[in-house]
This record gives sequence, structure tokens and C-alpha cells, in this order.
Amino acid sequence: MLNWGIYGAGAIAGKFAADFTKVEDAKIIAAYARNEEKAKLFCESHVIERAYHLEEDFLNDTDIDVVYVSTPHALHAEVVKKALTAGKHVLCEKPFTLNREQAIEIFKLADEKQLFVMEALWTLFLPTITKVFSWVEAGRIGEIKAIEANFGFIGNTDPEWRLMNPKLGGGALLDVGIYPVLMANAFNKSVPESIKAHGHFTKTGVDGTTFITCQYPNGTMASLNASIEVDLVNTLIIYGSKGRIEVPSFWMADSATLIIDETVEKFEANIFEKQGYQYEAKAVCEAIENGTTAHRIVSHEFTIELMETLDRIRHEIGLVYDVE
Ligand SMILES: NC(=O)c1ccc[n+]([C@@H]2O[C@H](COP(=O)([O-])OP(=O)(O)OC[C@H]3O[C@@H](n4cnc5c(N)ncnc54)[C@H](OP(=O)(O)O)[C@@H]3O)[C@@H](O)[C@H]2O)c1
Repeated sequence: MLNWGIYGAGAIAGKFAADFTKVEDAKIIAAYARNEEKAKLFCESHVIERAYHLEEDFLNDTDIDVVYVSTPHALHAEVVKKALTAGKHVLCEKPFTLNREQAIEIFKLADEKQLFVMEALWTLFLPTITKVFSWVEAGRIGEIKAIEANFGFIGNTDPEWRLMNPKLGGGALLDVGIYPVLMANAFNKSVPESIKAHGHFTKTGVDGTTFITCQYPNGTMASLNASIEVDLVNTLIIYGSKGRIEVPSFWMADSATLIIDETVEKFEANIFEKQGYQYEAKAVCEAIENGTTAHRIVSHEFTIELMETLDRIRHEIGLVYDVE
């Protein structure tokens, strides 16, 4: 039985806690928020027994085995290090850190402590995405030739909003652009050989829209786009030499379609009785119970390569965070 604690009682933490009720042999026993009232309210609404508003008390709770970090981006590295230092296993929201160097430092610490740590790339644990990988690996669409993926929506223009705020690591690329990029890396099992990207910046100095084209060592072309300013057609399309696969709203994929000539095969997972965060949480529990310090699906190498790809895209568009 693993006991979990939540660090950062915001929007995603609420969804995660709701889905966690589907995870067997594990329980969320504590949550930390900076504000006492907020911590209490969060715990009441999710039936969590221990509400903490002092970080030290949360980290010193020896009953907590695993910490789920769900703070804004810029805080991830610092909070994950604190949790590991306190002897906790960690599942940290995406992007794992602000850059590759921070990620490497964390994995080194986790290795020293022999603790499990993983970036919360929940998409890679969804049944629909597992199905899409099985179609690709069975050669159903032949060799992958090209990938298109967009994640864009019309967001808030309030400069204090998490995604508009450079101090919190805001912007489209790290928040939503990470999904198209991670899918392209995952399906190509590599990082891009070449990257071209353009960014449109908000008045607050973060990327509101980033459009990327890249080519992988196997020759695959990718067009990967992200926005917090415009509502893109948010579909992943994997084009192969024999056909294609389409996955609408792929980061929370509930269905996928395989199209080969005139033949159409549809997979529907119907996961959204809840959101689908239970799959990554179950995977983390299994990995920890098995005594491993990394998960084979979202390995430390995968996260380092993903951060490296994002660093290179940021370099292309000139996205710099003063807080780094
Ligand atoms: N996997 C997914 O599908 C998914 C979806 C959405 C977001 N996310 C990720 O989850 C993380 C949080 O996103 P969110 O949408 O849940 O954000 P949010 O609603 O703003 O929640 C973040 C929480 O972090 C806490 N926090 C601690 N220190 C903070 C600081 N210095 N400044 C601001 N907040 C601070 C805040 O709690 P207190 O003020 O109470 O301390 C806040 O409630 C991000 O990394 C994001 O990329 C993942």
C-alpha cells in the first residue's frame, strides 16, 4: 500500500485526485497548499485526511511514500529536489523541469537516493495511445514518414495567468507544445536531427504561439504546433507508407482511427468516466512496488531527450526565462 501526498493543490491536482480513486492499493493521504484554507478545502473535497499549509510539515510526514508535484513549471525542479531529499518517490507534472540541465541534476539525485522519479506524461499510459503504438509496431501503416500534431486553444490574456507569466515558466511550448513534441519523439524513438521554429510572443514575454518543423534521423518529417492564443485543429496524424492514423485531442486520447486505402478501423477507449490520470498513477505504483527507480515508458532518458528538444526549440524562437 503506497501513500501519496500532493504538492500544489491547483486545477490538475483536483483532476488527478478524482481519478486516483480508481487506483487500488494506494491512497492520497495528504495535500499541501501555501494557503491554510485552500489546503483544507482541497482535502475536504477529495476526502484526503491531512491538509498541510507548511511545506516542512508536509515533507516531514514520514507516512508519505510518493509525492505528486503539481505546481507551475518554474517550481518543479526545486520542489522535486526537496521531495527526493526528504526520501520520497516523485511523480512530477510536465514539463519535468525548465531545461535539460535541471532534469539531469534531478535524475542524479534520485539515483543517489535510489528513489523513483518520473515526469507525468500521462498520455503515454492511455489505452488509446497504447493501441496506436501497437498498430505502428505491427506495421499496419508501414514505415512512419511524417507526423503532424497540434495543441492550441484560446487562453486567458490576464498577465497574471500561469501561462502568461514568464516567472512561472509560462508560454505555449512548455505547457501544450510539449505534447506534440513528445509524441513525435516517442513514435520516432529519437530526437530531431534538425529543427526550425517560429514563435509569436505575448506582451508578457512568453511564446503565445510556436510553430515547429523538424526532421528525425530516420527521415520522418514533423509539423508540431502549439498555441495559447488560437484554437488549432488539435489532432495527431501519423502518416506511414501504407496508411495513416488519426488521434483527435491526442494528449487525452479517447479514440483513434486507422485508415488504410478505403478501410477504416476505429478504436474507442471510453476512458472518460474519469479523466484518465489513473493509468499513469497505477504505472508509478507498479514500478515502485517492483523496486525500480524509473519507468520503462517514460524513462529518465526519454525526459532528458524531451527537455533537450524543447531547449533547442526555445533557442530557435529565442524564449528565455529569467528564473533559470
Ligand atoms: N497532465 C495534465 O493533463 C496537465 C493539465 C494541466 C496542467 N498540468 C501541469 O500541472 C502543473 C500545474 O498546473 P495547474 O493548471 O494545475 O496550475 P494551477 O491551477 O495554477 O495550480 C498550481 C498550484 O501550484 C501551487 N503553487 C505553489 N507555489 C506556487 C507559486 N510560487 N506560484 C503559483 N502557484 C504555486 C498553487 O497552490 P497554492 O497557491 O495553494 O500553494 C497552485 O494551486 C503544471 O506543471 C502544468 O503543466 C498538467
